[in-house]
Amino acid sequence: MRIDIVTIFPEYFGPLSVSLIGKAAARGDIEFYVHDLRQWAHDPHRTVDDTPFGGGPGMVMKPEVWGEALDEIAPPDRTGNGPEPGQPDRRPRLIVPTPSGVPFNQASAARYTQSGQLIFACGRYEGIDTRFIDEARSRMPVDEVSIGDYVLAGGEAAVLVMVEAISRLLPGVLGNQRSARDDSFGGHAAGDGPAPEPPGGPLLPNLDVLGGMPGDVADSMAGLLEGPVYTRPRVWRGREVPDVLLSGDHAAIARWRRDAALLRTAANRPDLIFRAAADPAALSRRDWQVLSAMGLSGVVGSAESGPEEAARLPAWSRDMAH
Ligand code: 6GU
Repeated sequence: MRIDIVTIFPEYFGPLSVSLIGKAAARGDIEFYVHDLRQWAHDPHRTVDDTPFGGGPGMVMKPEVWGEALDEIAPPDRTGNGPEPGQPDRRPRLIVPTPSGVPFNQASAARYTQSGQLIFACGRYEGIDTRFIDEARSRMPVDEVSIGDYVLAGGEAAVLVMVEAISRLLPGVLGNQRSARDDSFGGHAAGDGPAPEPPGGPLLPNLDVLGGMPGDVADSMAGLLEGPVYTRPRVWRGREVPDVLLSGDHAAIARWRRDAALLRTAANRPDLIFRAAADPAALSRRDWQVLSAMGLSGVVGSAESGPEEAARLPAWSRDMAH
């Protein structure tokens, strides 16, 4: 995959040569091109911004400079038509980080691995003149994307975040492809096949009746947060590793991990439990029993009532889920 980044602070991207991403770049699995926006500014001061029409605070980035940058990085005649139905969209894609964008998440990261070329346009100040984005949209796919509900001074830190999330899903970058599926929000590694049967507990009686959900829905950690982890020593400052993790019983370990994931998710992100509850194949009867046994019935539902009871989650978590 090719990744172009346009910024007025190229030095911000030094970290791309570190660690797994740095190694993937050294191998040529990812090609990074970091461009200084000012090379497309032609006045003596290399001006990239101007005051906003209509007044107000701050500065707006000029469309001409950005337009020339994009013309050079993704020439208009090479951005072509969309893909055949069912085929991945390999066209260059422009991603504009902005707190006003659509939320970036694990599914977006997985989708972006299918692109041949990603072009990140880092805005500073109050953002880029919107005509640049409109014009780009007339010739290529464009996404305005936010990494969370807070305001950064510019898109650079957000691009580092997105590039790391995307890169580690590329084949070969993570080293151990399994880890991506077991992550919090996992189940989205590029080219993942269907997952094996879930260990340890029965799924809902007959998934086919429920509309033939794919096999990896209930057993991957998709939609749940990953639980706690342990390594040697077995006892540290009087704190023991849970016996089950030393038992060698793989089904029991998998079940323990799923229970721990459910507990942590219910505690830290009840909105995710609510979302899972809306998907008939996401939580098994056993999962509901576990949530109930954790003393969470009435908060996240119960073994008897299942998803219907999820309506009792706090209203804010429902708002977050939709
Ligand atoms: Cl993508 N950019 C900026 N400037 N601020 C943000 C953001 C992006 N996502 C959240 N806050």
